[in-house]
Amino acid sequence: MIRFLLNDRLVEVEDIASDTTVLDYLRGNAETSSAKPATEQRTGTKEGCCSGDCGACTVVVGEPEGDQLKYNTMNACIALLPSLHGKQLLTVEDLAGSIHPQDNQNKSELHPVQQALVDHHGSQCGFCTPGIVMSLFALHHEPAENQPDVLEALGGNLCRCTGYRPLIDAAESLANGQPDDKFFRHRAETLSRLQTIEQLGSVSGNGAFIPASEDEFARYLVENPDARILAGGTDLGLDVTQQLKKINKLVLVKRIPSLQTIHEEENELVIGSAVTYRSLKPILSKYFPEFAQMLDRLGSQQIRNQGTLGGNIGNASPIGDTPPVLLALDASLDLRHGDTLRNIPLNRFFLDYKKTALQSGEYIARIRIPTTPHQLKVYKLSKRYGDDISTVLAAINLETSDDGHITRARVALGGMAAIPRRADLCEQILTGSPLNQETLSQAKAALCQEFSPMSDVRASSEYRLVAACNLLERYFMELSGQNVRIICHA
Ligand code: FES
Ligand code: FES
Repeated sequence: MIRFLLNDRLVEVEDIASDTTVLDYLRGNAETSSAKPATEQRTGTKEGCCSGDCGACTVVVGEPEGDQLKYNTMNACIALLPSLHGKQLLTVEDLAGSIHPQDNQNKSELHPVQQALVDHHGSQCGFCTPGIVMSLFALHHEPAENQPDVLEALGGNLCRCTGYRPLIDAAESLANGQPDDKFFRHRAETLSRLQTIEQLGSVSGNGAFIPASEDEFARYLVENPDARILAGGTDLGLDVTQQLKKINKLVLVKRIPSLQTIHEEENELVIGSAVTYRSLKPILSKYFPEFAQMLDRLGSQQIRNQGTLGGNIGNASPIGDTPPVLLALDASLDLRHGDTLRNIPLNRFFLDYKKTALQSGEYIARIRIPTTPHQLKVYKLSKRYGDDISTVLAAINLETSDDGHITRARVALGGMAAIPRRADLCEQILTGSPLNQETLSQAKAALCQEFSPMSDVRASSEYRLVAACNLLERYFMELSGQNVRIICHA
């Protein structure tokens, strides 16, 4: 049975299908297997795109992080109900009246984030407002030292009528203010209630299994190789809302501690596959700042809070943002089947469009990234700067000798083929050659020879090829210390 707190009320979900989205559950659209309707009827949370892009459905989930309670935003439209297990769910209906010291829920008393929007004229038609309120709420509850900047925090909330200046002003007016609401005052009690749910161990029901340990998960997957793995759900949720698929068997991996840890070993980082982009960023900033910066452009804050590194690799999308970077860093994967572990280079993982080397009942347990010295640069081209899918993503990492020769080359591209892949021919040309114009011309010609990208709504095949060649040229210029001027057209 799935258990979570809706504000401060314990909810035990008994008869709702596991592929129900949190948004349908909240708005009362969920189908139940009994005559009893799912009656939350919290319609303050809106449905816009239903694909994790617009932020109208933004809610906040409180989850234990060590001995702290952490509030993160989430897109309710693509989150599936089992992902709430052991968490506190807050929606816009919970905020008014929550600042009164006696918690008397006087609903005419606005929460400071709501008041800030009123004071700065941050709402017109109001459709985006509940989502923006929840993003501001999460920002307001973030300790000052971890606070993302306002644009980052609001980057996943689209507003079509107010304009962003008032919204940014409202957010900035809250900067560094201490939250003084009942959620902050009761955080120890909430944490303890969530930990009690946690201690109940593995749970199952309505087509979902939520294991508490990796061994249980590995066993379950061998016995149920057809189960869909639910990690962040930012891709799986789209199967439900966009492809209208029914998912009858789900296994949630977000409660397995060993899949959520990051180890710094002597020559490598070992990252659990269920580590979220957001948790990954601090360690990447230390070893691979270029990689960490790219994460700011991967989805929105809501997506980065939930999406996982293992998910981005496992779904084998040709336009996934992290695989090309990991290819350029020679990452490898620990794959587990039952009690058997094997390690394969990421370069051998992607076989064909959405086809990987994973065998039936096997999963990605950990990602290993060598921390040897590197000259990695990552370039993402997309139609919008933030919250958009890559048109082309290039990750380039060349090793050079003191006499200016390239001793080792890694050029990995996304958006250029059916899989994220290294440019083998281009790498061959580069290796052993001097870092000069002639080598660059030959390497560009090799790229054009070995890639035939498709034309789609994002770009034509010709655009992609020219762009990839230009990114290689930009890398050469940056490596040789030339200034590259970047012009952004709004
Ligand atoms: Fe647009 Fe959820 S409805 S992100
Ligand atoms: Fe109308 Fe933002 S106020 S969409």
